[in-house]
Amino acid sequence: MSKFRVTRRQLIVGGAPLVASVPLAKLAFPGIAHAERLSIHQGHQHGHAAMIGAEVPAPGGPHDLDHLLYPPEPLPHEPGRVRDYHLTAIDKEIEVAAGVTYAAWTYDGTAPGTVIRATEDDLLRVRFTNSGSHPHTIHFHGIHPANMDGVFEIVNPGEEFTYEFPARPYGMHLYHCHATPLKKHIHKGLYGAFIIDPPEARPPAQELVMVMNGFDTDGDGSNNFYAVNGPAFYYAKYPITVSRSRTVRIYLANLTEFDLVNSLHLHGDFFRYYPTGSSDFFEYTDTVMLCQGQRGILEIDFAHTGLFMFHAHQSEFAELGWMGFFNVTD
Ligand code: CU
Ligand code: CU
Repeated sequence: MSKFRVTRRQLIVGGAPLVASVPLAKLAFPGIAHAERLSIHQGHQHGHAAMIGAEVPAPGGPHDLDHLLYPPEPLPHEPGRVRDYHLTAIDKEIEVAAGVTYAAWTYDGTAPGTVIRATEDDLLRVRFTNSGSHPHTIHFHGIHPANMDGVFEIVNPGEEFTYEFPARPYGMHLYHCHATPLKKHIHKGLYGAFIIDPPEARPPAQELVMVMNGFDTDGDGSNNFYAVNGPAFYYAKYPITVSRSRTVRIYLANLTEFDLVNSLHLHGDFFRYYPTGSSDFFEYTDTVMLCQGQRGILEIDFAHTGLFMFHAHQSEFAELGWMGFFNVTD
């Protein structure tokens, strides 16, 4: 990307949609062949205001992110049951936008990493293997002893550490590396979703996980791309199909570095937003704003079928990849 050293401000100058102009697309997607860039450009010229469908320049296949989007099934309350996970830190080049790779540090090869789920009072046991080239840890949000906090127990390359503590409180949490420099270890990709189910199970729903993130591909200390669950524009290329007859429940977390806040805005409907998801308190809204590390649970009961957009309400984030669609069916 060194050839394309531009700041994010330069990237979004003019406020045009990301792929709206050839120069912009060229800067943002240096890997895309000229002909493709041209067709993106022409697509815009012909008035494709909303970018959706197969032509969207997002990397990957239709089910590549299923393991990040759909969480493991919840298990009934059974105090003391052991929930085993094994996470491995791996250095990996990942494609964060069409033709744009990023030298990430990952848990299990993706950024965000594996979704961890437990029921309150489970004994969570996470074995962590550091196969990366830098010292790392796993720091969980939630309640746990000091020696399980992932701050002082640095795990060097080639070493292992097992985190073990009762899972509580119920809600939507997150985990991330806490080695220093902290900002670097997070923006390189070491974070993920951590769900704890309440003792009394939540009503059944179509459950989704969305971890908001960004990628600084030119190393200038600001993000060049934004997304949920990894690649820019992924859910614009592959809309998420949901059924109108069942509640959609989204476990949402913000792990975006550099920017103070991120947000999610839903078109065409309202949702209940439970901050942290650790109580019954909710707000009824169509837009939520999250600071770094904030998270919560959204519940949507769609009134209408059709295609509905969701995106960061910071327009520049949306234009740089953080947007997608629900395909609401009957
Ligand atoms: Cu780290
Ligand atoms: Cu944190």
